[in-house]
Amino acid sequence: MKANVKKTLIIVLISVLVLSLIPLIYFTARKNKQTVKQPDGKLILGFSQIGSESAWRTRNTQSIFEAAEQNDIQIIFDDAQQKQANQLKAIRSFIVYQVDVIAFVPIVSTGWDNVLQEAKEANIPVIVVDRQIDCDESLYAGFLGENGFEEGFAAAHFLVNKCKNRKGPINIVEFSGTENSSIATLRAEGFRSIIDQYDNFKIIHSEDGDFLRSRGKEMMDRIIRENGGLRLNGKTIDVIYSHNDSMTLGLLDSLHNNNINPRGTIIISIDAEQKSIDALVNGELNCVVECNPNSGPTLMQLVKSIANGDPIPRVTYMLDNIFTENDDFSTYTPRGY
Ligand code: AHR
Repeated sequence: MKANVKKTLIIVLISVLVLSLIPLIYFTARKNKQTVKQPDGKLILGFSQIGSESAWRTRNTQSIFEAAEQNDIQIIFDDAQQKQANQLKAIRSFIVYQVDVIAFVPIVSTGWDNVLQEAKEANIPVIVVDRQIDCDESLYAGFLGENGFEEGFAAAHFLVNKCKNRKGPINIVEFSGTENSSIATLRAEGFRSIIDQYDNFKIIHSEDGDFLRSRGKEMMDRIIRENGGLRLNGKTIDVIYSHNDSMTLGLLDSLHNNNINPRGTIIISIDAEQKSIDALVNGELNCVVECNPNSGPTLMQLVKSIANGDPIPRVTYMLDNIFTENDDFSTYTPRGY
C-alpha cells in the first residue's frame, strides 16, 4: 500500500514537472522561432487578403501566390470577404499557427493595434501590404504598396494640364474608394493638393463607392435619374474622378445604358486594368493612373529578409505608370489583369 502511494506520488510529481516545463519549451521555441522550420524547411507566410472586389485585387493575390511558389515559401491564405472582423480572426489564427511572417492588406486604416500587439508578443513580424494603417509604427515591420497620394496627385496634374485653356468653373464629381481606407484618403488628398490651388476647379460631389463596379453603376444611375442627365443640382458635370477602375467601368455601364456619350466628359480613373485601358483607347476615358498590383516578388524578398533577421525598409513603394489619351496606343502591351 505504502509502495503504491509512493509510486502515485512520483507519477504526480513527474507530471507536474513536465506540465510546468511546457510554457518554457513553447516560449523558447517562439523566441528562436526563426530556426524552427517546417519539416521541409519552408518559410510560412500567413497572408490575409481583403477579398476579390476588383480585377486589380485578383491580380494582386495571383502575384503574391506566384512569387511565393517561385521563392519556395508556403502561404496560409485567408480571403476576408471585405470584412475587417474576418481579417482580425485570420491574423489571430496565423499567430496560433506560429507562422514565420504575417502579411495583410488592411481594408480600413484603424482598429489593428490589439491584434498587432498580439503578433508582436508572439514574436511574429508583420508586413502591411497595399493599404496603410494608423497605429504605432513599432507594431509592424514595414509597408509595401502603392503611393496613393502620388496617384491622386498624378490624376489632378493631368486634369489641370488638360484644362489649362478652359475658362469658367470646372465641376468635378468624385467616386471615392472604401470609407476609412488609407488608399481612398490618400487618393483624395493627392488630388486636392493640386486642384485646391485653382479657383475654377470645384468638387461638387464626392461619394463612397467602395471600389465596386456595382456601386459605380448605381451612383451614376442615381445621378442621371435624379438630375435628368449628367448634371448635379443644376450644374453640368465636367469631370468624373473615380478612385478605381471597377467603379469607372460601372459608371461607364450606366452612361451607355442611358445613351450618354462618355466622350463629352473628362473621366479619370486609377488602376489600369485591361478593360479601362481598352476604354482609354476607345476614347471613353481620358487618363488612367496605374496602381501596380504586382507586389508579390518584392513581398517575398521582404519576407526572406525578415526571416533572416535583416531589417526591411519602413516603406517600400511600388512603381506606377500613367496612361493618357495623348499616348501612342500602338505601344501598349497587354496588362494581364
Ligand atoms: O487598395 C488598392 C485598391 O483596392 C485598388 O485601386 C482597387 O481596385 C482595389 O479594390
